Parts: sequence; structure tokens; C-alpha cells
Amino acid sequence: MKKYFLLACLAAATLGSHAEKIALSTPNNTLVIDVWKGGEPTFVYYGAKLSMDEIKAMPAATNANWSHLQLYPAYGATHCESETAFAMRHYDGNLSTQLLVTDYKYENITDLAPNGATRHGNRIVITLQDPLYPDVAHLYYQSYDDVDMIECWTDFTNNEKGTVTLTQFYSTCMPIRRGNVHATHFTGTWAAEAQMVVDKLQGGTLVLKNKDGMRNAHTERNEIMFSLDGYPSETSGDVIGTSLLYSGNYRTTVETDASEYHYFFSGINPDNSEYHLGKGQTFTTPRVAYTFSNEGTSGASRNFHRWARKYQLRHGDKERDILLNSWEGVYFDINQQGMDQMMHDIASMGGELFVMDDGWFGDKYPRKTDNSSLGDWFVDRNKLPNGIEGLISDAKKNGVKFGIWIEPEMANTTSVLYEAHPDWIVKAPGREPVLGRGGTQVVLDLSNPQVQDFVFSVFDNLLTKYPEIAYIKWDCNAPIMNHGSQYLTMDNQSHLFIALHDGLLSVLKRIRAKYPDVIVQDCASGGGRVNYGLLPYFDEFWVSDDTDALQRIYMQWGTSYFYPAIAQASHISAAPNHQTGRVVSIKFRADVAMSGRLGMEIQPKNMTDEEKNICRQAINDYKRIRPIVQFGDQYRLHSPYEGDNLASLMYVAEQKDRAVFYWWKLETFVNQHLPRVKMQGLDPNRQYRISELNRIDNVALPFEGQSFSGHYLMTVGLEMPSGHNTSYSGQTDWASRVLLLEAQ
Ligand code: GLA
Repeated sequence: MKKYFLLACLAAATLGSHAEKIALSTPNNTLVIDVWKGGEPTFVYYGAKLSMDEIKAMPAATNANWSHLQLYPAYGATHCESETAFAMRHYDGNLSTQLLVTDYKYENITDLAPNGATRHGNRIVITLQDPLYPDVAHLYYQSYDDVDMIECWTDFTNNEKGTVTLTQFYSTCMPIRRGNVHATHFTGTWAAEAQMVVDKLQGGTLVLKNKDGMRNAHTERNEIMFSLDGYPSETSGDVIGTSLLYSGNYRTTVETDASEYHYFFSGINPDNSEYHLGKGQTFTTPRVAYTFSNEGTSGASRNFHRWARKYQLRHGDKERDILLNSWEGVYFDINQQGMDQMMHDIASMGGELFVMDDGWFGDKYPRKTDNSSLGDWFVDRNKLPNGIEGLISDAKKNGVKFGIWIEPEMANTTSVLYEAHPDWIVKAPGREPVLGRGGTQVVLDLSNPQVQDFVFSVFDNLLTKYPEIAYIKWDCNAPIMNHGSQYLTMDNQSHLFIALHDGLLSVLKRIRAKYPDVIVQDCASGGGRVNYGLLPYFDEFWVSDDTDALQRIYMQWGTSYFYPAIAQASHISAAPNHQTGRVVSIKFRADVAMSGRLGMEIQPKNMTDEEKNICRQAINDYKRIRPIVQFGDQYRLHSPYEGDNLASLMYVAEQKDRAVFYWWKLETFVNQHLPRVKMQGLDPNRQYRISELNRIDNVALPFEGQSFSGHYLMTVGLEMPSGHNTSYSGQTDWASRVLLLEAQ
């Protein structure tokens, strides 16, 4: 790292009209950029780490074959016909902008990541100016010393005589060399999140975008993995992975023209969001994170997971509790005795935490269903005569921690809050509000500082009154259904989407400053807010409201491309499943749930003793593998998307001394042939002893207790029987295995 810094100092001193190469490296990646005074900064290289000599020898950026490699093209003077990173209307009405280099510098950075962790790395700051206007922009590229991630973002300061209007403001542009490039990305909706899509990039434009206003991870997600040399492989090939660290509306575009490159852009969605920037004000875009791996898509995922656990997720180094969440067990039917019973049952199965979901609040308007009470965060004393105090003392009695659900950014029109503050909601000026869930739900206007204070107070009041609360489930179940703020001026209605997101971030920052330790789940109608804009303030997220184990395999597979297992809340629920009606064996349900952050979402009262025993065993076994799942490296071995009725993945501890292997059969046919799975990530020279977890079979697996070399397991693999050796009725089509590997 140091040597690049020295090179940069030399280059900076001589920055002139000839291109100078500047480089930024992580342990295994290098980014190279060309800069020269009066020119646009151009892309040279992003990929595997290069030595200083290799960087020096690298040819300068070329414009051959119509390629345009500018790293932050601005609209109107040089760039018109293709997508641009930036566009604005100047104070005098001019729509053209040129952003040319005046200077750059390297900085050695030690700062606080948004999750509070200290990070070390280097930063390149390139200063840009328009020859016609006094505005100043900066491009930032920041590396990490210990993880393979480079983040980039920009800012723009208006130095004109008055307000200017920004109409396009991507955080990044990155040219990606054409070849046989495939983009893996994720689409989905409520109860069907993170479905994997693979597109071969050819001519034309791929646009991923979100305009929900509140939850940007339903519909498309912004993250993309680019497999650079052929159809995506989990295990080999060059891959660039990228994620926009933002929770508001976004637009991610990959434009392919007649040149040698695909052009990747990502940032805030400018649709209905033009931004008026006052004289002297600065607009800063959110960051985009990039990683490169030559170990296929699974390798790029591991880079994201490591970075996430260290720098993006709250408490990414702390084991998560095994919990029971009340939602699918009792829905709105909350009462003190019922909560006590659920606490007792989860404790008896070895669980550590109980979370009371929706339905506990509302005074004047009790929350009996989803059509009232959001905003009125007072205990419903009819349901809970002893209040939260009573629940906390029951939790103590049962030996579990206590958590609670809130949805603080929302109100129902049937609420005391709405009656007192009808002006606090998002709605189109002059129109009746459009109503959401339950026919009465509205979104609070977080652009308004008073609303920010209120949302903060919902969390603050609970935690001040009841410091024993160990866990908050923070939900968000509505989009912006009508555009308008009663707080913003009519001139600035287009700031709504950005201001809402800024308001939410400022509340979350206040919360984390005061409550750094409490565990908070990010939930938004399931996985609607799975993004790295919010995750630094949360510990985990609810992957989906769909708890069906089979569909979860696909959703958790997709989610794992960018998000680590420690963050993926994955719960054992009832059969028939409440979303799909599917009946899946309890063993299979447990085996799927324990590949993420294990929990339960079920009424234990309705479970048979046999089911309870299997869950007790699963919880006990999970405690043995928890550090491997939650802190280990994930290897996706066999994709459910292959279509051959099998999915398999494993986690390997950092020291490669322990690993856990998962194998799920997805469908049963008579005379079925399933592929054998080779393991990965092990030390080829160590011997690993195999033991099956969550075992239900009468007869042990033939290799139970035996040891095999890592080399053998990775080149030959173990043969899994395609069913279970139990009673006839127990041999369901939902065969699955969890194996613990321990180095001898
Ligand atoms: C959303 C969440 C669920 C549950 C309900 C409660 O749908 O995703 O997990 O909390 O709200 O109303």
C-alpha cells in the first residue's frame, strides 16, 4: 500500500497535460486510473492485484474502437449520446457540464466505518472543475487494507450565483471490457425475494431500478456480479461484484454500445428527484462497493461477506441468539399468558430469545388486525395487563431474553397519532392520502425533523423504560403511494425521496449513538430492505415473509451472493406452510433454517413431541456450528438453479479446522439420479472427521465418524443416500443432510 502512496506523491507533484497513472490496491485487487490536468479521469484497469512494475508498464487508457473510458462523464459538452454519470441545469440555464481534472491526492485513511468499526486503507481524491463555472466536484476511491473492497463516491459543490438543479447523479461509472460477460442479478417481490437472474451482456441496456421510496430490495436489487469470462461459475473465473450502499430509490444501468466496453453506472434514481442545490451547498452521492475475485461468484461473495461482517453489519463479530418470533405462531393474537407459554416452550427447546411481533400496542385503537394503531406505541393493557414489565419478568422467569416489534416510520389513519398530526404523513399536495395495508396505513414524512424526533422517540422510549429489551424488530410495510411532503416547500417536492432516506439515516445514527448494543432486525415486509445503506445500523434482516423451506433455499441462495449467513434470519415454521401450503418434514425445515441465523416462527403448542425433539436437537447442534456458519467462509457447491433437484453449500472456519456441509434434495422421483457434490475450501492436507448433525436415521451414514483428507473430500466427495433410513412414513421426499467436519 505504502509504495503506491509514494508513487502517487511523485505523480501528484508533476501532474500535467500527460496522463499519469494512479493506483489503489487491496490485498488482492488493483484499480488503475489515468489523470491529467484539464482532461477527464479515465479508467485503465480493475482486477487482480498487480505489482508496481506491472502498473508502470500498463499501456495508457485508449480510445480505440469508439471506447470512452471516462470515469465520471458529465452530460452536454463532451458526452451527449450515451449514458452519463452526471447532468445538471446551471444557474443560467445551461444544460452542459464538463468535469475536468485540476488536481488529485492520495490519503492514508483511518476512519470509522458506518457500523462503528475502525478501518484502515488509502483514498484517492480527484478534483474536477468545469472550465466555464466555478463548481467543484470530487471523485473518491477508498480501499481497505484487510479486505478486498474498494468504495467510490462523488460530491459536487455549487459555487454559482444561485441555486442549480442536479438531474442525474450516479455514484460511479465503471467500464467493463466486453468479452463473454454475464450479469447475475436478483429480482423478486414479497414472499419471493432474491430470485437469481443471469443475463449475457450483449448490445443494449440493462436497467435495474427501484422507485418504492421506502423498500428498495423488493422488485430488483441493485447488486450485480459480472462474470467476465463466460457463463457464471461459482468456483472459477474472474468476477466483479458491486453493491450500492443506499436504501432509497436507485438506478443501476449497464449500457453496451458499439465500443469495446460495457458501461456500468449505479446511484440514486433521479426519476422525480431532481435536486436543487443552493449556492455553496454540496451534494454527496452514496458509496458503491466493488470487489474482484478470480474464484468465481462464490469467491466474490466471500469478499462481500468478510467486508460485511467487519465493516457493514452491526456486531458482525458476535454470535446471534437463537430465537422464537411470535408472528406466524399467533399473529395479532397477543396476550400475556400466550407469550409466557411461547417463552417457556422456546426455552425448553434450548432457545435464547423470544420476540413479540405485531399486535401488542394501541390504546384508544387496539391493534387487533392490520387496519389500526400504527403510531400509538403504548401497550394494549387489555391484552397485556402487566405491560411490557410483565413480559420482561416472564422472560426472566423462563430464562430467555426479550425482544419486541415496531414499525415506527408508519401510522394508520385510525390512530391517535394521525388524529393529532395529519400533517406528518406523506401525501400528494391537495389530494386525499392513498392508503396502504389494512386500508388505512400511511407513511410518516421523515423529511420533517419533528417526525424524525418522533420516530427516534419510539425506539428511545421503549429502551429507556425497558433497558432489558435485547432485540428490536424494525419493520416497514408500505411504499410511497403518493408523492408529496407537507413539510418540504412546493419548490422542493422533488427532494422527497432523498430527504426521506436522509431523515431515516439521521434517526438511525442517533439510535446507534445512544444504543450501540441492542440487536436490531431490519425487516420490511420480509426482505424489502436488504441493502448496505441500512445494514450498518442493523444486525440482521428478515430474508422473506415466506418461510417455506423449499422456497427459502432459493431465496437464501440468492441473498447469499452479497449478504453473509450471520445476517440472514431463517426460521423453522409450521407445516403446512402458511405461505405456500407445502408440507415439508420438520428435519428438512430445520436443516434449511440452520444454514442461516437459526430461529423459529411457529406456535410450539401445536407441535408434536417428536417435532419438538427434532427442534431441540437442531438447536443444540446449531450451537456447536454457530461460529462456523456465522463467521466462516461460505462455499456454494451446487446451485438449486441447476435444475437437477439438488442444492448444497458449506461453511468453513477461517482456520480451516472445522466446516459444516449442507445437502438438500429438492424433489423426489423414482429411480432418481443425483450428482455427487465435491466439497471446497478445506485444507487438502488435513484429515477431517465426519459427524452427521440433526440425525433422524435409524442407521448411521456409512462414513459416520470416519476421517477423510481435505483433498479427498474436495476431489471425490461423499455419496449422500437419497432418502432417510427411518420408518416408512418418515422417508419423505425432503431428504437433507448436515455434516460437521472436524480436523483431526
Ligand atoms: C411484516 C413482516 C412480518 C410481520 C408482520 C407483522 O409483514 O415482514 O414478519 O412482522 O409484518 O404485521
